[in-house]
Order: sequence, then structure tokens, then C-alpha cells
Amino acid sequence: MSDVRLATATGATHAAILGVGAYRPSRVVPNADLVAAIDSSDEWIQQRSGIRERRWATAEETVQLMAVSAARTALERSGLDPRQIDCVVVATVTHFLQTPALATLVAHELGTDQAAAFDISAACAGFCHGVALASDLVRGGSAGHVLVIGVERLSDITDPTDRGTAFIFADGAGAAVVGPSEDPGIGPVVWGSDGEQSELIRQREDWRDVLASPDPAIPHLVMQGNPVFRWASFTMAKVAQQALDRAGIGVDDLDLFVPHQANMRITDAMARTMKLPDHVRIARDIAEQGNTSAASIPLALDRMLADGEAHSGDLALFIAFGAGLSYAGQVVRVP
Ligand code: UT7
Repeated sequence: MSDVRLATATGATHAAILGVGAYRPSRVVPNADLVAAIDSSDEWIQQRSGIRERRWATAEETVQLMAVSAARTALERSGLDPRQIDCVVVATVTHFLQTPALATLVAHELGTDQAAAFDISAACAGFCHGVALASDLVRGGSAGHVLVIGVERLSDITDPTDRGTAFIFADGAGAAVVGPSEDPGIGPVVWGSDGEQSELIRQREDWRDVLASPDPAIPHLVMQGNPVFRWASFTMAKVAQQALDRAGIGVDDLDLFVPHQANMRITDAMARTMKLPDHVRIARDIAEQGNTSAASIPLALDRMLADGEAHSGDLALFIAFGAGLSYAGQVVRVP
């Protein structure tokens, strides 16, 4: 056995989000366009979910196009050149090529210098998983700057006749550049999974079963909405509180609450359970954007920045949850 001691990488003392970007598809789809197929109403959808309209991608607005566009904005806002990105992490469940990873195509199109690139599959919690990984890569010395992207075209896997999902899911992309920082800009992640509840949200069937069927069609997402709703409203508020505790702050120190945009009532229930004070501004991007899974948190933060609700230096609490069931949350300082 060799007794040579291995060198180890040394990273930055702290990491932070340096810039965010978003891409909203061009097609606006109001509730009125969906209700006939699901025997619903604009009023019911707004009351039960807070959604007024959503964005669906056109054929040209591929996951790659949306991811690259959001990433370019995030890079511009960070003042960085693509060649300064060492790693690209894409969170998605709607890249239909099993391999290669979407991240490799995005890294190439952006013009990175052969950045490491891989996709992660953590459904709606994917972006927060990516931010946690990026922070540790930067602090561990594996990467100088990391690009984290959440992108989805959920309209491709949503059944327009399913009352429980047709009005919820939507398309879009959001991105963040994570890099070194003088002060801590990303708090410790609180994350986990509960595979016992894996049946609550899932793609209906395996592609091999689809191909074996006489009438093959894209396997849609199926969701038992009510149990997911209850789990998210109560269990996730506790996880969000743990993220605050691990960051060493209390609700009074927060400026923004940016939860996964799953349902406006879930957001309100979590805010009530956590007793968020009135000064904490709450992301409500879902009203115009629908539920975009891994893209929803960066999209929501981007809108708050554009609307002047979020400011550089604010402390924001992210909490994301979805299929798996999987979840992740952390406190971040807004770039
Ligand atoms: O992003 C990943 C994580 N996903 C989530 O967090 C989603 C969590 N779940 C939800 O957002 C909600 O469960 C939904 C918005 C999907 C549904 O809202 P709900 O309050 O849980 O409704 P429900 O399924 O308990 O149904 C209530 C009633 C039922 O009628 P009865 O039995 O009370 O007469 C349903 O038949 O509403 C009826 N209903 C509808 N009515 C009009 C169910 N879907 C519809 C519909 N339009 N689309």
C-alpha cells in the first residue's frame, strides 16, 4: 500500500448567488382555455390554486433554448463570461433524451470552456438541490463558478383532460450563477426524501410499458393532489423553519419568502404556520406562471427583482418540494 498523501482541493471560504435569470415562454394560456376539457371554471381554479394564467412553450421553445436564454441573463447580471463557468447543473424532468444530459448541450451552446455538466432529477425540488450542490462545489474547491438551471416543459407530460393536473403545470426556465463571496450568501441546505409517498406524484408509466402498448403516447404526470397538498402545507413549513435555524436567523430577519410555486394556498398555509411577519414579501409568481417545477423558484425571484419587491442584499428563504417525495430549502442572500 502506498503511503503517499493525496493533495486536496481548497475552495472559497464562502459562496453566494451572483446573478439570476429567467425565461418565460411566449404563449400565455388563461384558465378559460382549459376549463372545457376538465369541467372546471376560472373561479374554481383561482380559488383552489391562485393560478390565473400560465405560460406554455411553443415547439421552438425547447428546454435547451429556454435554459440557455435564462443562463445568458444570469451570466450577464453576474458580470461573468461563459468561459468562467466550471460546472453546469441542470435540474429538469422534461429533457426527453436519457443521455446525453441537457447540461452538456447547454454548456456547449453557452460557450463554456468544456465545463463539467450534468442533470439532476429531483423534480420540483431540483433547483434548491442544485444551489446546495453549487455552494458546496465552490466552497470545496471543485469549481470556481457554477451555473444552476431549473427548466421544464411540463405541458409535454400533462394530460389536458386530467382535472387534477391540467390547470397546474406549466413551462419555463430560471438560472442562477453561484460563485465565491466575501460573506456567506447561501445558508446550509435542509433536504430529504420520503420514498414511501413516491406514488403521490409520478409519471404514469415507464417508457418500456408505453412502447409495449398498442397505442403508445407520452406517459403523463399523475398526482394525488390532496395528500400532497397536506404534506406540503404542514411538513414543509417545519423544514423551512429548520432552514432558518441552520442559517442562524429567525423569521424577523427575513425579507423574502420564495417557496416552490405549487399552489398559492400552500404558500399561504406555510406562511401562516411559520408566522411570517408582515414585512416579509411573499413570491406569488404562480398567478401568471403556473407551477413550473424546478424552474419555479428562480422564475419567482426574478419577477420579484423586476417588480422592485426584492432588492440586492435581501435575505430570502427558498423551500421546494415535489415528486419523490423530495424536498430542499435554504436561506440565500439576493444578488
Ligand atoms: O409541484 C409539485 C407539488 N404539487 C403540489 O404541491 C400540488 C398540491 N395539490 C394541490 O395543489 C391541490 O390538491 C389541487 C389544486 C390539485 C386540488 O385542490 P384540492 O383543494 O386538493 O381539491 P380536491 O382534489 O380535494 O377536490 C375538491 C373538490 C372535489 O369535489 P367534491 O368531492 O368536494 O364535490 C373535486 O371533485 O373539487 C373537485 N375538483 C374540481 N372541480 C373543478 C377537482 N378538480 C377540479 C377541477 N375543477 N379541476
